[in-house]
Amino acid sequence: MSDLVTYDREGPIAVLTVDNPPVNALGLALRTQLKDAVARFIDDDAEIAVILGGGKLFLGGADVSEFGKPPQDPWLPEVVNFIEDCPKPVVAAIHGVALGGGLEVALGCHYRLAMPGTKLGLPEVTLGILPGAGGTQRAPRVVGTDTALEMITGGKPIGPDEALEAGLIDRVGEGETRATGVAYAQDLLDQGAGPRPIKAMDRPAAPAEGWDAWEAKLHAKYPGQVAQVQAMRAVKAATEHDLPEGLDEERRLFNALMDTPQREGLIHAFFIERKVAKVPGLEGATPRDIGSIGVIGGGTMGSGIATAALLRGLPVTLVEMKQEAADKAQATIAGNLDGAVKRGKMSAAKRDAALGTLHCVTDYGALKDADVIIEAVFESMDVKKEVFTKLDAIAKPGAVLATNTSYLDINEIAQATSRPADVIGLHFFSPAHIMKLLEVVVADATDKDVTATGFALGKRLGKVSVRAGVCDGFIGNRMLSHYRSAADWMMLHGASPYQIDRALEDFGFAMGPNKVADLAGLDIGYMTRQRKGREAGIVHPQWADDLYDMDRLGRKTGRGFYIYDDESPKGREDPEVLDLIEQERRKQGIEARDFSADEIVDRYMAAMVNEGARVLEDGIALRPLDIDVVKLMGYGFPRYRGGPMKYADMTGIATIRDRLRDYEDGSGFWTPAPLLEELAEDGRTFEDMNNA
Ligand code: 3HC
Ligand code: NAI
Repeated sequence: MSDLVTYDREGPIAVLTVDNPPVNALGLALRTQLKDAVARFIDDDAEIAVILGGGKLFLGGADVSEFGKPPQDPWLPEVVNFIEDCPKPVVAAIHGVALGGGLEVALGCHYRLAMPGTKLGLPEVTLGILPGAGGTQRAPRVVGTDTALEMITGGKPIGPDEALEAGLIDRVGEGETRATGVAYAQDLLDQGAGPRPIKAMDRPAAPAEGWDAWEAKLHAKYPGQVAQVQAMRAVKAATEHDLPEGLDEERRLFNALMDTPQREGLIHAFFIERKVAKVPGLEGATPRDIGSIGVIGGGTMGSGIATAALLRGLPVTLVEMKQEAADKAQATIAGNLDGAVKRGKMSAAKRDAALGTLHCVTDYGALKDADVIIEAVFESMDVKKEVFTKLDAIAKPGAVLATNTSYLDINEIAQATSRPADVIGLHFFSPAHIMKLLEVVVADATDKDVTATGFALGKRLGKVSVRAGVCDGFIGNRMLSHYRSAADWMMLHGASPYQIDRALEDFGFAMGPNKVADLAGLDIGYMTRQRKGREAGIVHPQWADDLYDMDRLGRKTGRGFYIYDDESPKGREDPEVLDLIEQERRKQGIEARDFSADEIVDRYMAAMVNEGARVLEDGIALRPLDIDVVKLMGYGFPRYRGGPMKYADMTGIATIRDRLRDYEDGSGFWTPAPLLEELAEDGRTFEDMNNA
C-alpha cells in the first residue's frame, strides 16, 4: 500500500504529512497509518509532532463512502483519543479545510494553527449525522457550548480569524504551511510547552438560551430533520458528563443517526451532486472559450443570467428591444449586485468593476464578439426563431448560441440558424443569480464541445449542471406538469388545495404545489395549458382557469389559491376557491371523497417517479441521479429524501409499481412505466442504473 502518511524529522520536530488525494478523507488505511505514525512519534526521540495535510487541504473528514458499511478498526474516535493521549505535544498545522472528522483530529491535537483562508467546520448534520469522533464533546470544551452548538447544528464552517477569536485555534499562520507549523512547534518547545489534552478541561456550562429554547429553534429551522436535534443532545451530554462517558453518548447518538433513511438520502445527495458533472459520452470533449457573454432579453431571466455572469467576473452585453427596457435591465442588474455586496458575496470594488463590463443596448451588432449568447426573450417559438435568425447573421463563428426556453423545441429553434451544431439549451431557474440548478439541454445536432461549454459555463457560474434532452419541459418541468396533474386529479376528487399543500410540506417539500403556483403566478400555468391544449394531463383544472379569468394570479395580485394580505402575508385559505372546485366536481358528476395525507403523498410521489421512469426511457435524462439532482436543486424536493428516484429505491420499486396499479383508472395516467415494471420484476433499483 502506498504511504498515506509520511514521517520525517526537522531536528526535535517530527512532521507527519497526510497525503490521500483528493481530500485526505480518513478511510481505514489512512486511520491505520495515522495512528501508526503517532505511535512511531511516541517511540521516537522527537520532542514534538506536527500533523499537516499534503496537497490542497488538511483533512476533509471521515470517508463518507464507508458509511452504511460495517465499521473497521481503528475507528476515528480511537485515533483521535490516541493522539490526545500522546505524552508529547502534537500540533495540527491546518490549511485548506479541516472538516468533520478532519477538525476532530485537530481537536485531538494539543495545539492548532490555521493558515489564512482555511475553512474549519463540523458539517456532519448536512449528511444526516453528527460529529462522531469526539467533536460534540471536545468542541464545547474548547469554544464554549453556544458557539459549539452553532457550529455543530448549523454545519457551516468558519474562517481562521473567527476560529481564533472563538479559541478553536491558537494561532493564524502565514506563509507556507509546513514551515509555519514547524516554526510554531519550535516556539512551543522553546516555551517548554507540554501536551494540553482537552479531556483534562472542565465540563462546559449549559447554553445561555437553555436547552428547550435550542430544541424549539432547531425544530423550527429544520422541520422534519432529525440530525440537528440529536447533535444538540450530544452537545448536552458534554455539559453533563466527563469526556469518556460523553464520548459513549456521542457514539450512541451517532450510531442511531447512521441507521436513518435521512442519512442515506443526504449522502446520496452529496455524491450525486458531484457525479452529475461526469456526463456519459462527454469524455474527451473540449469546452470552447468563455471570455464574454451575450444575453438577449433583460426581463426576469435575462437580468438574472447577466447578474450570475457578472458575479463570476464575466463581461456581459445585454440586448433589449427598446432603450427604456435596456435601462431597466441595467438598473435591475445593478440592484442585484448591490444585494450581493450587502450579503458579503462581492466587494464594492468588484461590483463597480463588474458594472463597468456590463453593456445594456438595443443593437444586436454588439453581440458580434460574444463567446456564448443566451437568449431569454418571451416564450414564443416565432419570437425565438426570429431572434436566432438574427443571431446567426451576427454571432462570430464558433460562438455558442443558447436558449433559456422553459418548454419549447430546441431542435426547431436550431433550425432557424445555419449552425444547429452550435445551438443548445441553457435552462436557468429563477432567480437565475441565486438558484444553483442549470439544465444543459442537448439538441439533436448539438456538438459535444458545445455541450462541454454549457457545463464549463455552469461551473464558472457556480451552478450544478445537469444534462437533459429535448422534450416539452426537459427533465424538471416535464415531470412537474405530470405530478401537478396528479394534484389536480386529487382536488377534482375531493382533496382541498390546502390539504394537498400541508401533506406535501409535512413530507418535506419546501412548499406545496398550490403555494408554488401562487408564487410563480397562475398566469404561467394558464399559458402552459393554452399552449398544450386541453388534452394535457388527466384533469383540466377549470378552477385555475377561473382564477386566471378573475385576475387572481397568486401572490402578485394578493389572491390566487390563497389570500395574501396584512392579516396573512404568507397566505390563508380561500373558501371561494373551494367553491370553484366543488362547482367543477358537480359539473362532472364527481362526488368528493376523503383523502388521507398518506394517500396524497403516495399518489403525488407515484406520479412523479412514474414520469421520472418515462423520462429515462425516452433518454431525456441519462441516469436516475440526473433527475434527483434536478428535483433537489430546482424544485424544493426535500434533500434528506435524496430525490424522487432515491425515494423510489428506499420505498421499494415494486411498492411504487403496485400503488400505480391500484390507482389505474383507465385514463392511462397511472399506468406503470415499462421501466418501472422491468426494474420491479428484476429486483433492480435506480441506484443500480446509476452505477451501470
Ligand atoms: N469522503 C469521501 N469522499 C469524499 C469526501 C469524503 N469526506 N469529500 C469529498 N469526497 C470526494 C468527492 O465525492 C469527489 O469525488 P469524485 O472526484 O469521485 O467525484 C472528490 O472527493 C472531490 O470532492 P469535491 O469535488 O467536493 O472537491 P472540492 O475540492 O470541491 O471540495 C471539500 C473539497 C471541501 C473537502 C468537499 O469535498 C467537502 O465538503 N467534502 C465533505 C466534507 C465533509 O462533509 N466532511 C465530513 C464527513 S462526515 C465525518 O467526518 C464524520 C465524523 O464526524 C466521524
Ligand atoms: P420576461 O417577460 O420577464 O422577459 C422577456 C424580455 O425579453 C422582455 O424584457 C422583452 O422586452 C425582451 N424581448 C422580447 N423580445 C425580444 C427581442 N426580440 N429582442 C430583445 N429582447 C426581447 O420573461 P422571462 O420570465 O425572463 O422569460 C424569458 C425566457 O426564459 C422565456 O423563454 C421563459 O420561458 C424562460 N424561463 C423563465 C423562467 C421564469 O421563472 N420566469 C424560468 C426559466 C426559463
